[in-house]
Amino acid sequence: MSRSMRMRTRIEFVVVLAVLVGSLVSAQTITGRSESKSQSCVNGVCSKVETTCEGGKCTTTTTSEDGSVTTTESNGTEAGGGDVSRPCFPFCDGDDNDDGDDASGDGAFPPCFPFCDGEGDADAIGGGNSTTTECPPAGFDSLKDFNLTAWTAHPWYIQKQAEVVYQKPPFFCVRANYKQASPTEVNVYNTASLEGVDGPQQNDGPPLKAVIDDPAVPSKLKVGPAFLPPSMYGDYWVVYAGPSEDKYEYGIVSGGPPTVPGASGEGCVAGGPNELNGAGLWLFTEDPNPSEETVKMLEAKAKDLGLDLSVLEPVVQEGCTYPPE
Ligand SMILES: *[C@@H]1O[C@H](CO)[C@@H](O)[C@H](O)[C@H]1NC(C)=O
Ligand SMILES: *[C@@H]1O[C@H](CO)[C@@H](O)[C@H](O)[C@H]1NC(C)=O
Ligand SMILES: *[C@@H]1O[C@H](CO)[C@@H](O)[C@H](O)[C@H]1NC(C)=O
Repeated sequence: MSRSMRMRTRIEFVVVLAVLVGSLVSAQTITGRSESKSQSCVNGVCSKVETTCEGGKCTTTTTSEDGSVTTTESNGTEAGGGDVSRPCFPFCDGDDNDDGDDASGDGAFPPCFPFCDGEGDADAIGGGNSTTTECPPAGFDSLKDFNLTAWTAHPWYIQKQAEVVYQKPPFFCVRANYKQASPTEVNVYNTASLEGVDGPQQNDGPPLKAVIDDPAVPSKLKVGPAFLPPSMYGDYWVVYAGPSEDKYEYGIVSGGPPTVPGASGEGCVAGGPNELNGAGLWLFTEDPNPSEETVKMLEAKAKDLGLDLSVLEPVVQEGCTYPPE
């Protein structure tokens, strides 16, 4: 199922997910079935809340730090999940001091700093009420106006990026080169060096292709091996690009909607380092070695969009010898 279908199905479950007091974390919808996970902390004691909904009926399983498990069934219209509920994946830490360090050592709840904030009130900001990180951030979307011709007019040099399953830090000489093949198809040539700027080229495997599902929304692309059907491709959303629509010098790409709350406790990110599709965050520039201000500007923009900057690792571009375009 495509990510966009999943998004649409997810919207149908908005009512059901409201049960979680707006703390949607990572909802996976599989043909009429939705699963969501969140953390609920009341007076500093956290519980793992997992809700599965199918055919309008929802089952919520709450596992408390003390190990007690309660299961409630509802038709999706009842409120529940505690009065303080915040997204968190993985969950709270399993001891009772709410600090995310699993001092009890039982491993029942993997670490979850800073959602478990160490103050006993579980709010992460000191003495007040709980905060909620909603992912994806309200209103998050790819660019409304996007010029694919301009985006594919020159190679892109990645300045910072998240770890992805096919590329592990430290990152060197990462370049993305796009050649538009048709109004909705782009051939993708990614290159990078391993181990250092003089290191061997990363063997990228089969050629990649990007396709636009809906020609009306060209900023939502999908990328995958050219030999596979596009239904198996992963989301690639251009969420920011500038300075003008006929000439892009910088941009931000997210691996689709950022549905995962950031580990830093701020912002959201698309997928995780072990996911192939629907994961990743990249800061692009036309200049291999742009000014520090340009990179800072992109980071500030990503933060404004509600993205989690803590996943970003620098890419060394200084001193690279790039393969022919
Ligand atoms: C859901 O449950 C509530 C309370 O149990 C009930 O009032 C309501 O009519 C039910 N709605 C549906 C659609 O079954
Ligand atoms: C938390 O929020 C509730 C409801 O909005 C409010 O009544 C209460 O005073 C708040 N507590 C603190 C410590 O801000
Ligand atoms: C898109 O970019 C191309 C290449 O720079 C330019 O020729 C064209 O005018 C742009 N179209 C729009 C609508 O900005």
